[in-house]
Amino acid sequence: MNTHNENDRAAWLQGSSVNCSAPPEKVGACWRLVLLGAPGVGKGTQAHLLSQRLRACHLSTGDVFRAAASHADCVQTPAMTSALENMRRGALVPDSTIWEIVRERSGCLRCQGGFLLDGFPRTLAQAEALILLMQDEKLSLNAVVNYELPMAEVTSRLSGRRICQECKSVFHITQQPSKAEGLCDHCGGELAQREDDRPNSIIPRLEAYRQSTEPLIQFYRYLGLLLPVNASGSPEEVCARTLIALGKLSESPTVPDKRASVSEGQFPRR
Ligand code: AP5
Repeated sequence: MNTHNENDRAAWLQGSSVNCSAPPEKVGACWRLVLLGAPGVGKGTQAHLLSQRLRACHLSTGDVFRAAASHADCVQTPAMTSALENMRRGALVPDSTIWEIVRERSGCLRCQGGFLLDGFPRTLAQAEALILLMQDEKLSLNAVVNYELPMAEVTSRLSGRRICQECKSVFHITQQPSKAEGLCDHCGGELAQREDDRPNSIIPRLEAYRQSTEPLIQFYRYLGLLLPVNASGSPEEVCARTLIALGKLSESPTVPDKRASVSEGQFPRR
Protein backbone atom coordinates (compact mmCIF):
# COMPACT_ATOMS: atom_id res chain seq x y z
CA MET A 1 0.00 0.00 0.00
CA ASN A 2 2.99 2.25 -0.57
CA THR A 3 1.44 4.66 -3.02
CA HIS A 4 3.12 7.84 -1.79
CA ASN A 5 6.72 8.89 -1.63
CA GLU A 6 7.25 7.35 1.76
CA ASN A 7 9.53 4.83 3.41
CA ASP A 8 9.37 1.52 1.54
CA ARG A 9 9.64 -0.44 4.85
CA ALA A 10 12.27 -2.69 3.27
CA ALA A 11 13.88 -3.56 6.62
CA TRP A 12 10.51 -4.74 7.92
CA LEU A 13 9.24 -6.49 4.79
CA GLN A 14 12.48 -8.19 3.77
CA GLY A 15 14.39 -8.49 7.04
CA SER A 16 17.08 -6.61 8.92
CA SER A 17 19.83 -7.25 6.35
CA VAL A 18 18.04 -4.84 3.98
CA ASN A 19 18.01 -1.05 4.45
CA CYS A 20 14.91 1.13 4.09
CA SER A 21 15.07 3.56 1.17
CA ALA A 22 13.98 6.58 3.24
CA PRO A 23 14.38 5.91 6.96
CA PRO A 24 12.27 8.39 8.91
CA GLU A 25 14.00 11.38 10.46
CA LYS A 26 13.29 12.35 14.03
CA VAL A 27 10.80 15.22 13.85
CA GLY A 28 8.55 15.91 16.82
CA ALA A 29 7.02 13.16 18.91
CA CYS A 30 7.90 9.54 18.29
CA TRP A 31 4.75 7.43 18.26
CA ARG A 32 4.81 3.75 19.19
CA LEU A 33 1.34 2.32 18.78
CA VAL A 34 -0.34 -1.05 18.44
CA LEU A 35 -3.46 -1.13 16.23
CA LEU A 36 -5.89 -3.77 17.43
CA GLY A 37 -9.21 -4.95 15.99
CA ALA A 38 -10.90 -7.72 14.05
CA PRO A 39 -9.59 -8.79 10.63
CA GLY A 40 -10.99 -6.33 8.09
CA VAL A 41 -11.92 -3.62 10.61
CA GLY A 42 -9.60 -1.23 8.73
CA LYS A 43 -6.29 -1.42 10.64
CA GLY A 44 -4.19 -1.40 7.45
CA THR A 45 -6.18 1.51 6.01
CA GLN A 46 -5.73 3.49 9.23
CA ALA A 47 -2.05 2.57 9.54
CA HIS A 48 -1.52 4.01 6.04
CA LEU A 49 -3.31 7.28 6.92
CA LEU A 50 -1.76 7.57 10.38
CA SER A 51 1.75 6.92 9.07
CA GLN A 52 1.43 10.06 6.95
CA ARG A 53 0.23 12.13 9.92
CA LEU A 54 2.44 10.71 12.67
CA ARG A 55 5.44 9.79 10.44
CA ALA A 56 5.67 6.40 12.09
CA CYS A 57 6.23 3.25 10.01
CA HIS A 58 3.38 0.85 9.26
CA LEU A 59 4.64 -2.53 10.46
CA SER A 60 2.26 -5.35 9.53
CA THR A 61 3.14 -9.00 10.13
CA GLY A 62 0.60 -10.00 7.45
CA ASP A 63 2.50 -7.82 4.94
CA VAL A 64 5.74 -9.69 5.79
CA PHE A 65 4.06 -12.98 4.80
CA ARG A 66 2.49 -11.52 1.66
CA ALA A 67 5.87 -10.03 0.65
CA ALA A 68 7.53 -13.43 1.14
CA ALA A 69 4.77 -15.16 -0.84
CA SER A 70 5.14 -12.75 -3.77
CA HIS A 71 8.93 -13.12 -4.03
CA ALA A 72 9.16 -16.20 -6.23
CA ASP A 73 12.98 -16.03 -6.14
CA CYS A 74 13.08 -16.02 -2.35
CA VAL A 75 13.96 -19.43 -0.87
CA GLN A 76 11.23 -20.17 1.64
CA THR A 77 12.14 -21.91 4.88
CA PRO A 78 9.86 -24.77 6.04
CA ALA A 79 8.55 -22.42 8.76
CA MET A 80 7.60 -19.76 6.16
CA THR A 81 5.98 -22.35 3.86
CA SER A 82 3.90 -23.65 6.75
CA ALA A 83 3.04 -20.06 7.86
CA LEU A 84 1.72 -19.24 4.37
CA GLU A 85 -0.40 -22.39 4.40
CA ASN A 86 -1.89 -21.38 7.80
CA MET A 87 -2.61 -17.93 6.44
CA ARG A 88 -4.41 -19.28 3.36
CA ARG A 89 -6.68 -21.34 5.64
CA GLY A 90 -7.38 -18.33 7.86
CA ALA A 91 -5.58 -19.87 10.86
CA LEU A 92 -3.05 -18.02 12.99
CA VAL A 93 0.64 -18.62 12.35
CA PRO A 94 2.35 -20.25 15.38
CA ASP A 95 3.70 -17.82 17.99
CA SER A 96 7.24 -19.19 17.58
CA THR A 97 7.33 -18.31 13.84
CA ILE A 98 5.85 -14.87 14.44
CA TRP A 99 8.28 -14.18 17.23
CA GLU A 100 11.27 -15.19 15.11
CA ILE A 101 10.12 -12.75 12.42
CA VAL A 102 9.55 -9.86 14.84
CA ARG A 103 12.77 -10.43 16.81
CA GLU A 104 14.75 -10.48 13.58
CA ARG A 105 13.23 -7.06 12.80
CA SER A 106 13.54 -5.55 16.28
CA GLY A 107 15.61 -2.71 14.75
CA CYS A 108 12.30 -1.42 13.32
CA LEU A 109 10.94 -1.17 16.88
CA ARG A 110 13.97 0.91 17.87
CA CYS A 111 13.62 3.17 14.81
CA GLN A 112 13.54 6.85 15.79
CA GLY A 113 10.51 7.37 13.51
CA GLY A 114 8.37 5.16 15.76
CA PHE A 115 5.97 2.46 14.60
CA LEU A 116 2.36 1.45 14.05
CA LEU A 117 2.12 -2.28 14.69
CA ASP A 118 -0.71 -3.84 12.65
CA GLY A 119 -1.63 -7.50 13.16
CA PHE A 120 0.92 -8.02 15.92
CA PRO A 121 0.57 -8.88 18.75
CA ARG A 122 -2.35 -11.21 18.18
CA THR A 123 -2.13 -13.58 21.14
CA LEU A 124 -1.41 -13.07 24.84
CA ALA A 125 1.95 -14.84 24.43
CA GLN A 126 2.92 -12.41 21.64
CA ALA A 127 1.78 -9.41 23.70
CA GLU A 128 3.82 -10.51 26.71
CA ALA A 129 6.88 -11.19 24.55
CA LEU A 130 6.57 -7.71 23.00
CA ILE A 131 6.46 -6.05 26.41
CA LEU A 132 9.57 -7.91 27.55
CA LEU A 133 11.43 -7.04 24.34
CA MET A 134 10.48 -3.38 24.69
CA GLN A 135 11.54 -3.36 28.33
CA ASP A 136 14.95 -4.75 27.29
CA GLU A 137 15.21 -1.99 24.69
CA LYS A 138 14.03 0.64 27.22
CA LEU A 139 11.06 1.51 24.99
CA SER A 140 7.39 1.82 25.80
CA LEU A 141 4.11 1.88 23.91
CA ASN A 142 2.17 5.17 23.83
CA ALA A 143 -1.16 3.38 23.38
CA VAL A 144 -3.05 0.47 21.89
CA VAL A 145 -5.79 1.70 19.56
CA ASN A 146 -8.69 -0.76 19.48
CA TYR A 147 -10.92 -0.30 16.42
CA GLU A 148 -14.53 -1.30 17.13
CA LEU A 149 -17.10 -2.22 14.46
CA PRO A 150 -20.17 -4.53 14.35
CA MET A 151 -19.21 -7.99 13.01
CA ALA A 152 -21.62 -7.77 10.05
CA GLU A 153 -19.76 -4.70 8.79
CA VAL A 154 -16.38 -6.34 9.42
CA THR A 155 -17.44 -9.30 7.24
CA SER A 156 -18.66 -6.98 4.49
CA ARG A 157 -15.35 -5.04 4.53
CA LEU A 158 -13.41 -8.30 4.27
CA SER A 159 -15.43 -9.89 1.49
CA GLY A 160 -15.48 -6.70 -0.63
CA ARG A 161 -11.76 -5.90 -0.32
CA ARG A 162 -9.68 -5.86 -3.50
CA ILE A 163 -5.91 -5.41 -3.64
CA CYS A 164 -3.78 -4.05 -6.48
CA GLN A 165 -1.48 -6.84 -7.60
CA GLU A 166 1.25 -4.30 -8.43
CA CYS A 167 1.38 -1.53 -5.79
CA LYS A 168 -0.74 -3.29 -3.12
CA SER A 169 -3.20 -0.38 -2.75
CA VAL A 170 -6.42 -1.42 -1.04
CA PHE A 171 -9.94 -0.85 -2.45
CA HIS A 172 -13.44 -2.01 -1.62
CA ILE A 173 -15.98 -2.94 -4.28
CA THR A 174 -18.69 -0.68 -2.81
CA GLN A 175 -17.15 1.42 -0.01
CA GLN A 176 -13.93 2.48 -1.78
CA PRO A 177 -14.33 1.45 -5.41
CA SER A 178 -11.62 2.11 -7.99
CA LYS A 179 -12.53 4.54 -10.80
CA ALA A 180 -12.17 1.87 -13.50
CA GLU A 181 -13.63 -1.47 -12.44
CA GLY A 182 -10.92 -4.02 -11.59
CA LEU A 183 -8.03 -1.57 -12.13
CA CYS A 184 -5.94 0.34 -9.61
CA ASP A 185 -6.37 4.14 -9.51
CA HIS A 186 -2.68 4.64 -8.69
CA CYS A 187 -0.80 2.38 -11.11
CA GLY A 188 -3.40 0.75 -13.36
CA GLY A 189 -2.53 -2.70 -11.93
CA GLU A 190 -5.11 -5.47 -11.78
CA LEU A 191 -7.22 -5.71 -8.62
CA ALA A 192 -7.77 -9.11 -7.03
CA GLN A 193 -9.32 -10.63 -3.93
CA ARG A 194 -6.94 -11.77 -1.20
CA GLU A 195 -6.92 -15.56 -0.92
CA ASP A 196 -7.87 -15.36 2.78
CA ASP A 197 -10.80 -13.01 2.04
CA ARG A 198 -12.79 -15.86 0.45
CA PRO A 199 -15.77 -17.09 2.51
CA ASN A 200 -14.15 -20.37 3.62
CA SER A 201 -11.20 -18.45 5.14
CA ILE A 202 -13.16 -15.53 6.63
CA ILE A 203 -15.02 -17.75 9.12
CA PRO A 204 -11.88 -19.33 10.69
CA ARG A 205 -10.15 -15.91 10.74
CA LEU A 206 -12.98 -14.35 12.74
CA GLU A 207 -13.03 -17.37 15.05
CA ALA A 208 -9.24 -17.09 15.60
CA TYR A 209 -9.76 -13.41 16.39
CA ARG A 210 -12.45 -14.19 18.97
CA GLN A 211 -10.44 -16.91 20.65
CA SER A 212 -6.90 -15.53 20.57
CA THR A 213 -6.90 -11.79 19.88
CA GLU A 214 -9.99 -10.45 21.65
CA PRO A 215 -8.49 -11.28 25.09
CA LEU A 216 -5.83 -8.66 24.32
CA ILE A 217 -8.47 -5.95 24.78
CA GLN A 218 -8.72 -6.85 28.45
CA PHE A 219 -4.92 -7.25 28.69
CA TYR A 220 -4.19 -3.75 27.38
CA ARG A 221 -7.06 -2.23 29.36
CA TYR A 222 -5.46 -3.73 32.47
CA LEU A 223 -2.19 -2.03 31.50
CA GLY A 224 -3.95 1.30 31.05
CA LEU A 225 -2.95 1.47 27.39
CA LEU A 226 -6.26 0.75 25.63
CA LEU A 227 -7.75 3.50 23.47
CA PRO A 228 -11.11 2.40 21.96
CA VAL A 229 -12.00 4.06 18.62
CA ASN A 230 -15.26 3.66 16.68
CA ALA A 231 -14.28 2.36 13.22
CA SER A 232 -17.52 3.22 11.42
CA GLY A 233 -17.64 5.99 8.84
CA SER A 234 -15.17 6.88 6.12
CA PRO A 235 -11.44 6.10 6.54
CA GLU A 236 -10.78 9.85 6.94
CA GLU A 237 -13.41 10.13 9.68
CA VAL A 238 -11.94 7.15 11.53
CA CYS A 239 -8.44 8.62 11.18
CA ALA A 240 -9.61 11.99 12.54
CA ARG A 241 -11.27 10.19 15.48
CA THR A 242 -8.02 8.32 16.16
CA LEU A 243 -5.94 11.50 16.13
CA ILE A 244 -8.38 13.15 18.55
CA ALA A 245 -8.16 10.12 20.85
CA LEU A 246 -4.35 10.21 20.66
CA GLY A 247 -4.40 13.97 21.32
CA LYS A 248 -6.17 13.26 24.57
CA LEU A 249 -3.21 11.13 25.64
CA SER A 250 -1.03 14.19 26.07
CA GLU A 251 -3.69 15.67 28.38
CA SER A 252 -3.37 12.65 30.70
CA PRO A 253 0.19 11.34 30.23
CA THR A 254 0.27 9.38 33.46
CA VAL A 255 -1.20 6.07 32.34
CA PRO A 256 -0.96 3.47 35.11
CA ASP A 257 2.11 1.32 34.42
CA LYS A 258 1.45 -2.27 35.37
CA ARG A 259 4.07 -3.76 33.03
CA ALA A 260 6.21 -5.06 35.88
CA SER A 261 3.30 -7.18 37.10
CA VAL A 262 2.79 -8.59 33.60
CA SER A 263 6.41 -9.64 33.34
CA GLU A 264 5.87 -11.54 36.58
CA GLY A 265 2.92 -13.36 34.98
CA GLN A 266 0.26 -11.67 37.10
CA PHE A 267 -2.16 -10.81 34.30
CA PRO A 268 -5.37 -12.67 35.14
CA ARG A 269 -5.79 -15.16 32.27
CA ARG A 270 -9.24 -16.49 31.39
P1 AP5 B 1 -3.19 -9.57 8.46
O1 AP5 B 1 -2.62 -9.16 7.19
O2 AP5 B 1 -2.71 -8.92 9.72
O3 AP5 B 1 -4.75 -9.48 8.31
P2 AP5 B 1 -5.90 -9.09 9.35
O4 AP5 B 1 -5.58 -8.75 10.74
O5 AP5 B 1 -6.80 -10.23 9.17
O6 AP5 B 1 -6.34 -7.74 8.88
P3 AP5 B 1 -6.69 -7.38 7.44
O7 AP5 B 1 -5.48 -6.98 6.67
O8 AP5 B 1 -7.52 -8.48 6.83
O9 AP5 B 1 -7.70 -6.19 7.67
P4 AP5 B 1 -7.47 -4.70 8.13
O10 AP5 B 1 -8.03 -4.52 9.49
O11 AP5 B 1 -6.07 -4.25 7.88
O12 AP5 B 1 -8.46 -3.99 7.11
P5 AP5 B 1 -8.20 -3.09 5.80
O13 AP5 B 1 -7.64 -1.78 6.20
O14 AP5 B 1 -7.48 -3.85 4.73
O15 AP5 B 1 -3.00 -11.14 8.71
C1 AP5 B 1 -3.27 -12.09 7.71
C2 AP5 B 1 -2.92 -13.47 8.23
O16 AP5 B 1 -1.50 -13.54 8.55
C3 AP5 B 1 -3.61 -13.92 9.51
O17 AP5 B 1 -4.88 -14.47 9.25
C4 AP5 B 1 -2.60 -14.97 10.04
O18 AP5 B 1 -2.72 -16.18 9.33
C5 AP5 B 1 -1.26 -14.36 9.69
N1 AP5 B 1 -0.73 -13.50 10.78
C6 AP5 B 1 -0.35 -12.19 10.65
N2 AP5 B 1 0.09 -11.71 11.82
C7 AP5 B 1 0.00 -12.74 12.71
C8 AP5 B 1 0.31 -12.84 14.10
N3 AP5 B 1 0.80 -11.80 14.79
N4 AP5 B 1 0.07 -14.04 14.71
C9 AP5 B 1 -0.40 -15.10 14.03
N5 AP5 B 1 -0.72 -15.05 12.71
C10 AP5 B 1 -0.52 -13.89 12.06
O19 AP5 B 1 -9.70 -2.85 5.34
C11 AP5 B 1 -10.53 -3.93 4.94
C12 AP5 B 1 -11.45 -3.46 3.79
O20 AP5 B 1 -12.33 -2.47 4.29
C13 AP5 B 1 -10.73 -2.81 2.61
O21 AP5 B 1 -11.36 -3.19 1.42
C14 AP5 B 1 -10.87 -1.31 2.83
O22 AP5 B 1 -10.90 -0.59 1.63
C15 AP5 B 1 -12.20 -1.26 3.55
N6 AP5 B 1 -12.26 -0.18 4.56
C16 AP5 B 1 -11.30 0.13 5.48
N7 AP5 B 1 -11.69 1.15 6.24
C17 AP5 B 1 -12.94 1.49 5.81
C18 AP5 B 1 -13.88 2.47 6.22
N8 AP5 B 1 -13.64 3.32 7.23
N9 AP5 B 1 -15.06 2.53 5.57
C19 AP5 B 1 -15.33 1.67 4.55
N10 AP5 B 1 -14.48 0.73 4.10
C20 AP5 B 1 -13.30 0.63 4.73
